[in-house]
Amino acid sequence: MNDKLNEILTDTSAGVLTITLNRVDKKNAITAVMYASMADALAQAQADPAVRAVVFQGHETIFSAGNDIGDFLSQAPSTMDSAVFRFLRGISTFPKPVLAAVCGPAVGIGTTLLFHCDLVYAGDNAAFSMPFVNLGLCPEAASSYLAPRRMGYGRAAEALLLGEPFMAEAALEMGLISRIVPPGEAAALAQRQAQKLAAKPIGSLIETKRLMKLEQADVVAQRMAEEGVSFARMLREPAAREAFSAFMEKRRPDFANLAN
Ligand code: COA
Repeated sequence: MNDKLNEILTDTSAGVLTITLNRVDKKNAITAVMYASMADALAQAQADPAVRAVVFQGHETIFSAGNDIGDFLSQAPSTMDSAVFRFLRGISTFPKPVLAAVCGPAVGIGTTLLFHCDLVYAGDNAAFSMPFVNLGLCPEAASSYLAPRRMGYGRAAEALLLGEPFMAEAALEMGLISRIVPPGEAAALAQRQAQKLAAKPIGSLIETKRLMKLEQADVVAQRMAEEGVSFARMLREPAAREAFSAFMEKRRPDFANLAN
């Protein structure tokens, strides 16, 4: 059996689709194949009336180390049809409620995907970070727009320019997450809340979510597209290549001699 088939697990029960990142030995780093599985699962869930809410979860010790850096080196996404961008469009426009249970590190897209979740339950070990600049990249998932609005510019600058992590308490204060619980309880709480949602009238949920997001829907889509063009370009530039090579070789990157 090909292990890669199990790196994203999906399960639907009682109206709730649960998508589990299941690559713990690589800290749930997400490959193009995994983005494609998640994008497909979201597209099917959107069309399936039996699915009324979606839960994303990782492991009690790790939500996700973000994009797989080896994948960035070997098959960097180049067009807006790439799996990662398809996944981001899917989650950011998903009409039904999306929840997440987050424990341990949530790096890069592990944090930015949460901007598109409606309810996030975090373990007290959760640590959020968006270290795009440290990798010679720029924000994605409309986080250049959403982070300053959620966090205030000052804290967004620490998170996005310095790439500094922030903990569950700070995430709660800024409204990125809904509640902090012991790591062993986050997944069960997300399931309970999802099942409560699944028992409510789906038309009311969809319309309420649409109205809550109405103001930002177009600007989020536009920003995501603009970020995507820059991100795809920067992936191929010297700073990112140096950062990725350094990560693979387990050394510090050296940006000193790079012009940009
Ligand atoms: N891409 C590919 N592999 C990754 C990875 C990533 N984003 N993050 C971790 N891994 C791999 C490591 O290479 C290591 O593999 P190995 O056992 O074959 O050497 C394994 O996962 C364990 O990682 P390690 O760094 O030893 O775990 P840790 O507990 O010390 O640290 C993290 C966990 C998440 C803090 C750390 O792995 C990390 O910072 N990862 C990179 C995050 C990142 O920059 N992501 C990109 C964001 S755009």
